Amino acid sequence: MNETIELLLRHRSIRKFTSEPISDEVLRTLVQCGQAAATSSNVQAVTVIHVTDTDKRESLAALAGGQPYVADAGAFVVYCADLRRPKNACESQGGDFSAGMMEHFLIASVDVALAAQNTVVAAESLGMGICYIGGLRNNPADVSALLQLPEQVYPVFGLCLGYPDQDPEVKPRLPVDAVLMKNVYSEAQQRELVAQYDEQVRTYYQTRTGGNKDSSWSEEMRALVGKESRPHMKGFLADQGFATK
Ligand SMILES: Cc1cc2nc3c(=O)[nH]c(=O)nc-3n(C[C@H](O)[C@H](O)[C@H](O)COP(=O)(O)O)c2cc1C
Repeated sequence: MNETIELLLRHRSIRKFTSEPISDEVLRTLVQCGQAAATSSNVQAVTVIHVTDTDKRESLAALAGGQPYVADAGAFVVYCADLRRPKNACESQGGDFSAGMMEHFLIASVDVALAAQNTVVAAESLGMGICYIGGLRNNPADVSALLQLPEQVYPVFGLCLGYPDQDPEVKPRLPVDAVLMKNVYSEAQQRELVAQYDEQVRTYYQTRTGGNKDSSWSEEMRALVGKESRPHMKGFLADQGFATK
């Protein structure tokens, strides 16, 4: 183990922050760390919108389904997948932008995740806490309007950054043997490993909530993938010019 590995294994999302702000200088460094991540074909399809306007922060907290930390965190940024910059570059060279490619959508979305996670690790290394906010995709059109996102740009998620005002336990992950496979995909032992994990998660929630939450990982997956999830996303992405072919 080294410090970096220990830091990664200590990660837990933070949803309560002190009032200490994040300076612009620190934020710029964190975003630069994100930019240093690998990026498909150097496309760098990431734009980060730092939301400093208090009213906008309140609106985004509401649009994310009522998540107060969006307004309260030391800083709040929105990670956007941005094909507009490469489109403009392509056109500046006399090219015809090929709009709507599913592959470009994947490239841009993966770029965003890699950049954001680099920023997260850098922030955590400075003693900050973070919470990703996928809840912005509850109302992606309203979020896009609020941030004046043009076509070929979409909000993938938000990120709260700040100094923790809570110290939650690390949430257990699946056993490594459930996710690390050799040479071929294998479902052998999955049932048993997931069953073990289900009990670990149940205990984690019971401890964390003083017995109020009693659910396993499989029960959570039933709630998550056992129903349609944000079905508006397909139409929204098409409207923004993404993923139609
Ligand atoms: C893309 C993404 C979106 C997320 N969206 C939300 C969110 O809207 N609200 C929230 O409270 N947590 C959100 N989370 C945090 C996850 O719930 C959390 O990472 C997960 O339960 C594991 O817990 P941990 O981060 O404490 O280890 C999101 C995480 C990711 C990666």
